[in-house]
Amino acid sequence: MTNYPNWFNGRVAQLNFEKFLLAYAGQEVNFLQIGAYTGDATEWLFANILTNQNSTLTDVDTWEGSDEPAHDQLNWLNVEDTYDLRTLKFQNENRLFKHKMMSDSFFANDAKSYDFIYIDGDHKASSVLQDGINAIARLKPGGIIAFDDYQWSLGKGPAFEPKPAIDAIRLCYADSLTVFELEYQAWMTKH
Ligand SMILES: C[S@@+](CC[C@H](N)C(=O)[O-])C[C@H]1O[C@@H](n2cnc3c(N)ncnc32)[C@H](O)[C@@H]1O
Repeated sequence: MTNYPNWFNGRVAQLNFEKFLLAYAGQEVNFLQIGAYTGDATEWLFANILTNQNSTLTDVDTWEGSDEPAHDQLNWLNVEDTYDLRTLKFQNENRLFKHKMMSDSFFANDAKSYDFIYIDGDHKASSVLQDGINAIARLKPGGIIAFDDYQWSLGKGPAFEPKPAIDAIRLCYADSLTVFELEYQAWMTKH
């Protein structure tokens, strides 16, 4: 298997998943991840949190990458194969639903609601804003939404970073979301 950059294991993302998702371990819950990549977070979630046989994860990804230098060098056909190889067991068990499409198209055609939603797809501010607004509508009351890379920068200005979108969401949804983590990632719960 090719060695790809790992943006989950051993990083803030895994630490926050351990800290904030533990209460869901073994429960019958439905999670959604926008941006699944090679399946690092997917594999970890099934090993540690989604252990109830009736719990599910919906993964959405174009498997085409974004307009970022770190993505340009990757072989995306092989990234998708890697994801499939690692997650086939859960796909076959109907506990992992793989959707190969733009997140916008997914939200336009999906009516389910979720206990946890992880936004880690396209990192442009406009894309994060759109994913966030769509996701909040599908988040169950009491559910958690997390955004990766709140402090990340491509060095091309705010339009290319998640931060302005996450800040707008914090302001606009202050009546329905409580922020409980705001460092490298942003985590919020819905009232
Ligand atoms: C940083 S990676 C996700 C990492 C993954 N969450 C993890 O923790 O291992 C971002 C992913 O978002 C996907 N992506 C980019 N734009 C997208 C879009 N508009 N809709 C869906 N997925 C997208 C890319 O193909 C890439 O695999």
